[in-house]
Amino acid sequence: MNTTTRYVILVVVVLVALHSILSFTHEDYGRATSLSNINSKMPWGGDRDSPYEEVVAPPHPSSPPSSHGRANATILMLARNSDTDSALRSVRELEDRFNHQFHYPWVFLNEEPFSDDFKKRISNVISGEVEFGQIPRDHWYQPEWIDETKAQAGRDKMVQDNIIYGGSVSYRNMCRFNSGFFFRHPLVQKYKWYWRVEPDVHFHCDIDEDPFVFMENNDKVYGFTITMYEYLATIPSLWTTVKQFITENPQFVAEGNAMGYMSDDGGNSYNLCHFWSNFEIANMDFWRSEAYMKYFDYLDSTGGFYYERWGDAPVHSIAAALFARKDQIHFFDQIGYEHNPYTHCPKGNGLWQQKHCSCNPERSFDYDGYSCMRQWDRIQ
Ligand SMILES: *[C@@H]1O[C@H](CO)[C@@H](O)[C@H](O)[C@H]1NC(C)=O
Repeated sequence: MNTTTRYVILVVVVLVALHSILSFTHEDYGRATSLSNINSKMPWGGDRDSPYEEVVAPPHPSSPPSSHGRANATILMLARNSDTDSALRSVRELEDRFNHQFHYPWVFLNEEPFSDDFKKRISNVISGEVEFGQIPRDHWYQPEWIDETKAQAGRDKMVQDNIIYGGSVSYRNMCRFNSGFFFRHPLVQKYKWYWRVEPDVHFHCDIDEDPFVFMENNDKVYGFTITMYEYLATIPSLWTTVKQFITENPQFVAEGNAMGYMSDDGGNSYNLCHFWSNFEIANMDFWRSEAYMKYFDYLDSTGGFYYERWGDAPVHSIAAALFARKDQIHFFDQIGYEHNPYTHCPKGNGLWQQKHCSCNPERSFDYDGYSCMRQWDRIQ
């Protein structure tokens, strides 16, 4: 044999060996090159746009089998550098219970730059992509046009009355940001869905069905796990303002809305029921809609976020209940969730066993005296 022949034989042998090793050890490679599949990729082999394309794509070690079925979604957390340990615990739990299977990207927002320590330690427990962003000043701080003397008087009164966070300006900044700005942040703008997560919360059950895909497929807008009453002292003029807004803009009120959950007298007064917004899975295009943007600007222009202490929970909840249909709001019973001091723990349908929940179903907040689940149930 001359050198060329020997060389050709060697190459053939190596190729055959490589093929059989790959076919044996790598399922995707085997499927991609087996004859029937090569056939199906040929013009006469049927549908060229078949989802099969996804299977033969080069396998990526961190992408799950269902990654092509993922929603346009992010998991979002507002946090400070001083929250590193508690943020880490929330992230770790949600990764373990849910995201290690789905690899949704996380976005972290802060009014200051995140420290290297925060970024390094958070990235270390995340299974997919993560981005860290800073909030633009004018999305966070009290606007110039707020009358600070009046705002101070409002805060002093709430401190006297022992209202939680009554004297805090930064709490008010956060509520206003969560009401009207987070979905406009450049890192968040590119997504449709978000799951809001806070430091120091707990996820008690396996989440093996994708809640974003569920929302998308079922035409949902807003998802919650806990509903309760708001403190009237924090929102004395909110409902009057809402009523003025809908009188001036009746076109935004949806047919089949959830007014019956929020009002016991057909909309005349607010019963203070709201969805607890530290957990939210929702469609940001709803917040970006003309209805919500006009509603937010209207509320904001009264200064109520600073003169009173309007929370993003009643602001979001009232909008979801009025501008969406009630069947577009979803109660995520199977997601065991805890934010001190309250827990939602699934009780019925064997969910607690099926999802390996670590919470105590006897302590679930659902029908606690302070819960609004009864008001939710009555409109179902
Ligand atoms: C995701 O949703 C956002 C907001 O609706 C949209 O701007 C963006 O184009 C979407 N991205 C994809 C890949 O569909």
